[in-house]
Amino acid sequence: MARVNGSDAAQGRAYGRPVATYDKELVQVGPGTIGGELLRRYWQPFALSTEITDDLPKAVRILGEDLIAFRDKEGTPGLMYPRCLHRGASLLYGKVEPKGIRCPYHGWLFDTEGHLLDTPCEIDQNSKIKKIVRQPWYPVIEKFGLMFCYMGPPEKQPLFPRIPEVFEELAADELLVATGGINPVTTGSAAIFFGAMDFNWWALYENHMDPMHVGALHTTINGIQFFEHVSYNPSPCKFKYLSDGSGTAWLAHWRSEKEGIVTQEVMQTVIPNLVIRGPTFKPGGAMMLWVLPVDDTNHRVFLLVRCPKDDPKLNYRLQFSMAQPGWGPGKPWEHWTTEDHQRWQTDYIVQKSLGPINLQSDEHMTSADAGVAMIRRVFKRQAELVREGKDPIGARPGAAQSVEVIAGTAILDFETLEFRAGCLRATVSDF
Ligand code: FES
Ligand SMILES: [Fe+2]
Repeated sequence: MARVNGSDAAQGRAYGRPVATYDKELVQVGPGTIGGELLRRYWQPFALSTEITDDLPKAVRILGEDLIAFRDKEGTPGLMYPRCLHRGASLLYGKVEPKGIRCPYHGWLFDTEGHLLDTPCEIDQNSKIKKIVRQPWYPVIEKFGLMFCYMGPPEKQPLFPRIPEVFEELAADELLVATGGINPVTTGSAAIFFGAMDFNWWALYENHMDPMHVGALHTTINGIQFFEHVSYNPSPCKFKYLSDGSGTAWLAHWRSEKEGIVTQEVMQTVIPNLVIRGPTFKPGGAMMLWVLPVDDTNHRVFLLVRCPKDDPKLNYRLQFSMAQPGWGPGKPWEHWTTEDHQRWQTDYIVQKSLGPINLQSDEHMTSADAGVAMIRRVFKRQAELVREGKDPIGARPGAAQSVEVIAGTAILDFETLEFRAGCLRATVSDF
């Protein structure tokens, strides 16, 4: 909320200013934290299917927990606490077997649900140890080329969500492309969205509810990063809560007199960490991304995109080409220096510049930030329900969340606003 920086006598100087703080309910993701317990009530992606093989286990960090992921030789994926419950050797160095993983130190064998199957060094033949010990594990499912885990209370486990507009009922000429992962692409324009992001997940998540930065950061501040017509302020620009209370959405019209079109973009966020959107400034239907908190100061993005079968790579590149040719310092993303970032600002650098964790107490939000304020409010309300022992929206035990998709990008006639191309699931009157 708005806060006056000091008294008249202080003259607004930096001296004596209050220590800036963050909003713990939003930003903390570890076990037992308010936001972390909400995030744990939903299936979360943590790797591409292809990254979890029956060769070597992989170290993964999810919601502040260090885990190992593997696939046993029979093909069953596992996600486990890495410290062997015998005497603590890491299962990262374990041997993957037909049924589970064997600790390298004394050979204890655990299946993918943590059952202790074998203790080859055991001297006491009457030992009850196999009945007593269970290596801590989490359920894993594989869907659409991604690996998902559920890290919440067992009795609260929901089914995997159903979102037909994104990942079901594909046309014969369509396929789903999953991206992100443990070792995602780190070069080229795609890296602006993907890779290991070294700051709190909210900076990226709530950026999706901030259409106003497009005309500033991506257009007028340091050159046109998208397309010419984005340089206009969106008009109208509307925000709303989703009708079922699960999140928020905005609708913006990007008007281009030169091209004689209006590009209508509708984007939605669904708590706890989903974004559903159309392709950026190109006509098209929904794609979905999860902003996965690795811990309080790191996150990753996982994404599902519907693509035409004939050229999924091309479609992917088009959808995520952040920069026009010639924009930027002309070198691979990972080689940009501080000076390069000072000359060419991207989503990444402005979000990272908020700090490892954004300090919300310093903020002065205005009507332009309505979407950000709204998604924070929805998240905190649902987190509060979890704290009260209730079920948050879309995460009822044994039920599948179903999300009403209104996101999409459409091209409209400049004068009449009649639909011309793309995906129109909502209009101005719906906002
Ligand atoms: S520490 Fe794992 S078997 Fe001994
Ligand atoms: Fe952006």
